[in-house]
Amino acid sequence: MTADDAPGRTRWAPVLWPVERPGPPAFDRGDRAWVVSRFADIGAVLGSGAFFSPDASVEIRSVAARAGLEASALAWALDSLMPSQHGAPHRAARDAVTTLMPHVMVGWTRDRLNAVARRLVGDLQDGDAVDIVPGLVDALPNAVAADMLGLSLEDVVWVRKCSLETMSAWRRGVPLRTYGALERVAGDARSFLETSPRGTSRILMGASRDVLAGVEFTLLAAAVVTTSSTLGAALYALAQHPDLQRTLRGRPERISGFVEEVLRLAGSVRRLSRRVAGTAFEVGGVVIPADASVILDIERAGRDPAVYDEPDALDLERNAPPTLAFGGGDHPCMGPRLARLEMAAAIAELLSQFELGVADEPSFAGSRDVRCFKALRVRLRRHSYPS
Ligand code: HEM
Repeated sequence: MTADDAPGRTRWAPVLWPVERPGPPAFDRGDRAWVVSRFADIGAVLGSGAFFSPDASVEIRSVAARAGLEASALAWALDSLMPSQHGAPHRAARDAVTTLMPHVMVGWTRDRLNAVARRLVGDLQDGDAVDIVPGLVDALPNAVAADMLGLSLEDVVWVRKCSLETMSAWRRGVPLRTYGALERVAGDARSFLETSPRGTSRILMGASRDVLAGVEFTLLAAAVVTTSSTLGAALYALAQHPDLQRTLRGRPERISGFVEEVLRLAGSVRRLSRRVAGTAFEVGGVVIPADASVILDIERAGRDPAVYDEPDALDLERNAPPTLAFGGGDHPCMGPRLARLEMAAAIAELLSQFELGVADEPSFAGSRDVRCFKALRVRLRRHSYPS
């Protein structure tokens, strides 16, 4: 028996990726923003009401105008993403999602999620290098989103790709040569979302077609990519630790603690979307001037030693404060319950049918702000342990 097999073990160290320790708020010249990374400092910023999301398209519009380029669809796409909104458009979008989510949750019960996960896992084949992204990591959130928005699976995959591509225009200094391509992608997504009537229109009858299109565009990134990526991280952690698989197989009630730890260690949103200080604000002994941009690095906050004992370790029984993985302030995530249920269903079903091991290092799309798996190749062996 190795140390990892010790009975009753609940802590594994270290898992997933190394992350830089948080520090006091500091100005980052590359990002042209103050980066806030300690857990308490991020809590203070989110709870202060002193910060707001700036108009996302201002920069793109002015750069495009100076260069004589068209960027109106791109500007629509950026302004439609809820984390970049504020004021009345943001309230209208949140109202629409608040109306939609109870319908989604009634349809997607734990039993139904388990059944869909069981079918997807049942279709996986044994192998030494099975890319588990298309068959499970992407497939479950895609299926839920298709049902939630009344879209086909192909449309979900396509709009989700458009949404990720246009989000790349959010970062500063996008090369001018990419504007044309991004404008076409955003334009295609916009006309598709604004013209085809779907299930959401029946539930959200009071919302305008424009608000609906923005909400759907947001959800295809915010609900699908995030859940897929965090699930990918969970499966990668499991593949690294056969003993963790044994523990969770024997004690499935611990899967929820595992999901919380994966959210903390490797939630898909690494840094929240930019906020701007409405007034000068002191945090962590540093004064952030009015009008300055702020980036909240929740990934580093998740490893804050002032809050988490042995922060790099995965501890199934950690008694931690509420996670920052779902953001907060004016833009808290609107789907944590659904996300947790999806992840738990996929993990439980995979463990009940397979043993997994690492075949390759995963490959990623995404950015410094959002992690997104391109491929996650694992060794899969069907087992016959009783479930
Ligand atoms: C593990 C999965 C998920 C993670 C880690 C996650 C994380 C987040 C984070 C950090 C934000 C705030 C972004 C910011 O302030 O920049 C956010 C926003 C949002 N999330 Fe999630 N999310 C997940 C799944 C979901 C699901 C399943 C749904 C809905 C079905 C959803 C709906 C939303 C919406 C609508 C927003 C925008 C809120 C606003 O701007 O007012 N998310 N999410």
